[in-house]
Amino acid sequence: MSQAEDDAGSRRDFLYYATAGAGTVAVGAAVWPLVNQMNPSADVEALSQIFVDISGVEEGSQLTVNFLGKPVFIRRRTAEEIEEARAVPIDDLVDTASRNANRPGTDAADENRSLDEQGTWLVMEGVCTHLGCVPLGDGAGDYNAWFCPCHGSHYDSSGRIRRGPAPENLPIPVAEFIDDNTIQLG
Ligand code: FES
Repeated sequence: MSQAEDDAGSRRDFLYYATAGAGTVAVGAAVWPLVNQMNPSADVEALSQIFVDISGVEEGSQLTVNFLGKPVFIRRRTAEEIEEARAVPIDDLVDTASRNANRPGTDAADENRSLDEQGTWLVMEGVCTHLGCVPLGDGAGDYNAWFCPCHGSHYDSSGRIRRGPAPENLPIPVAEFIDDNTIQLG
């Protein structure tokens, strides 16, 4: 087997297949016990990188993958969502830091939070920064994006906290595109 074939085979082994049907978030007023149930077994936890096939994600939908014991939301935003997120002045934000592991030290402008320059893809941990519930998605809350029902935290279409007790924007894990249809986490 050539090196290239070998590499392709290894990558396939770790592909995290997401089907089109998984385009909606597994949501609910999920508190930490749910997250705990999602905890991977020790061998899975050892995988510090996963590859997510995003080819089935339709515009305006998202999928949730489990990465290192936490839900990660991967959303393909609509033009309207991007426009809304990019129109917000930094001064209007509760937390002005991007909280993006890929762009440390940057401000919370949407351009510093989206995975791609156009802003189509938003990848972030689905863990409320208040006390750790999993926010509801798909147009929830006052900002038509994400809402944590545990104590009423509203996040906008960039995953930034806008109202409620959560102190910080939803954090963005290390992530990158490795080809048009695959995002690597970690
Ligand atoms: S845990 Fe989300 S608002 Fe309290």
